[in-house]
Amino acid sequence: MLNALFPGESPTNLLQPGRKLIPKYTILPRFGHHPVPNVDEPWVAAAFTPPQERTPELKEAIQLSDLLVDEFLAADLYVFGVPMFNFSVPSTFKAYIDQIGRIGRNFAVDEQGFKGLVEGNKKVLVITACGGSFQPGTPTASYDFQEPYLQGILDLSALQTSS
Ligand SMILES: Cc1cc2nc3c(=O)[nH]c(=O)nc-3n(C[C@H](O)[C@H](O)[C@H](O)COP(=O)(O)O)c2cc1C
Repeated sequence: MLNALFPGESPTNLLQPGRKLIPKYTILPRFGHHPVPNVDEPWVAAAFTPPQERTPELKEAIQLSDLLVDEFLAADLYVFGVPMFNFSVPSTFKAYIDQIGRIGRNFAVDEQGFKGLVEGNKKVLVITACGGSFQPGTPTASYDFQEPYLQGILDLSALQTSS
């Protein structure tokens, strides 16, 4: 049995192909109508404090992030439906990425650069949508910060995209 992570709905609730593609999986609403909060100062303090040194306040500040990272690492299949908003990803999707981007948990960094820490034969399906056209070689191509961002952020966790 695959453990699938389908973190969201499109913020406008119109980009819903994933629901039809994989109806048997549980959808975990993590953005769209159920956005996760933005990271804040206590979150940053907690993330950069070793777990054994965290005060109760810092533990609380990082609790949701820990849950989201655990959920992310436990998944075998990831489905992301991401529309383009102002040439990039919606802020609700970015808030989710900020919550799960944790050094030492899903990626590491050293003098060699970044190293993804997500292991195993995991599959990623990314469904993007936009109102305009940003094909390579066209005058609008350089405005596409959506797909390059998604590619980079998934590479960072060592998730190989195939679509
Ligand atoms: C706030 C907002 C900003 C948008 N910005 C862009 C944009 O910069 N470029 C573009 O091609 N489409 C843009 N769109 C159109 C969305 O990308 C398009 O509606 C979406 O991909 C389709 O998903 P939906 O059916 O869930 O709305 C924008 C839509 C909204 C609501």
